[in-house]
Amino acid sequence: MALWGGRFSSGPDQAFKQFNDSLPFDYQLVEQDIIGSIAWAGALEQVGVLTTEECGQLVAALNSLLEESVQDRASIASSGYEDIHSYVEAKLIEKVGDLGKKLHTGRSRNDQVATDFRLWSRQTAEQIVTAIKSLQCALVQLAERELETILPGYTHLQRAQPVLFSHWCMAYVEMLTRDVSRLNDAIERLNECPLGSGALAGTAYPIDREHLATQLGFKSATRNSLDAVSDRDFVVELLSCASISMMHLSRLAEDMIFYNSGESSFIELADNVTSGSSLMPQKKNPDALELIRGKTGRVFGAFSAMMMTLKALPLAYNKDMQEDKEGLFDALPTWIACIHMAESCIKGVKVNAEATLKAAQGGHANATELADYLVAKGVPFREGHHIVGQLVQIAIEQGKNLEELALDEFKLVCPKIDSDVYPRLEIAACIAARQALGGTSLPQVTAAINHFKGAIEK
Ligand code: ARG
Repeated sequence: MALWGGRFSSGPDQAFKQFNDSLPFDYQLVEQDIIGSIAWAGALEQVGVLTTEECGQLVAALNSLLEESVQDRASIASSGYEDIHSYVEAKLIEKVGDLGKKLHTGRSRNDQVATDFRLWSRQTAEQIVTAIKSLQCALVQLAERELETILPGYTHLQRAQPVLFSHWCMAYVEMLTRDVSRLNDAIERLNECPLGSGALAGTAYPIDREHLATQLGFKSATRNSLDAVSDRDFVVELLSCASISMMHLSRLAEDMIFYNSGESSFIELADNVTSGSSLMPQKKNPDALELIRGKTGRVFGAFSAMMMTLKALPLAYNKDMQEDKEGLFDALPTWIACIHMAESCIKGVKVNAEATLKAAQGGHANATELADYLVAKGVPFREGHHIVGQLVQIAIEQGKNLEELALDEFKLVCPKIDSDVYPRLEIAACIAARQALGGTSLPQVTAAINHFKGAIEK
């Protein structure tokens, strides 16, 4: 039976019912809907709508429904009710008879769904925070393992300056720290309880809404009933958090796909996150990483779809808002799966330190170092830059690295260059010179690792 119907002389046609029903996806809110209902029964008892005995009976029935539902969630989706709220109410009435019909007093599906969805969002967002922290720990472990491994750093995908492999790991740790901080902000803002806002105007029963909010683990109750039933900022914020973080994960994936390619062979992915080709027996493809990169698109899609749906909706609740669920129900689990998969890729990766070093030594990645050497000899940087450019050109013509040029070849272009240039051009020296905060020198990277470890313990 539908939750409405008194003022209708005929029922919905089948096509409309299918179009309108949300149970096939909002069944996922079953726990939240029951938990919210238990708290609402308590609130109704406090204002005298339910006797203590009636409330006890309802709560017991709701608890047993909770147990049954958790065991068989999948069958709820196809049970034919309009939405999760109709389902829970119908099952409650099956259990306790007419008493079940009292529970919806003073409540609307509008404040109910807003509450359920916030509860689900909070719980899921908290799981994501945990998952991200675990990925960060895996990156830090890799950083410690490859602490002094040298990697070419790129700009424009051209070898630019050498960096420590551990510095690369810690760059992603930084991005993920911002993702966690954004999520925590979003959690903080969504942690307000809309229940007791009624359909739009507030409830006509003198419910202690702050108490009700606390019962459900919220920080406080929402302050405006019109806003409370129609606000979906929390969905937008979570999708935005998801999009930004997926962008980070897809960049991580792309870096690793490149490092894993036959062209660079800097890393080798473990067998457990790669797959073969049906035709080419030699292939070991980085599917896990490609899927992380690929799934990023659909998370961005969910974000823009939600923005489009909410744009220009008049106050207060409109059925358009039912479209809030499928995107978030897809995006957040997709995000979690990608975080876990990225962690597996990081944990099993083998780094080929010889290949990374060789690549870092090529490509004249120590040219900036030479310019800095000239600065120390009193040459203005802009002039030094030009001189080094000429030397790079000579080295390219001879098929050599800069440090392989003879001293008289250096002197021909710039007499100020002396034999003390050679140690400066060593790759280790290039890295060691980056001593300022945030640079790639070993003490700085070690400090970054320690900083992260200190923060995660708090
Ligand atoms: N299934 C609906 C949703 O997800 C629940 C709220 C329905 N409210 C209403 N007035 N029809 O938005």
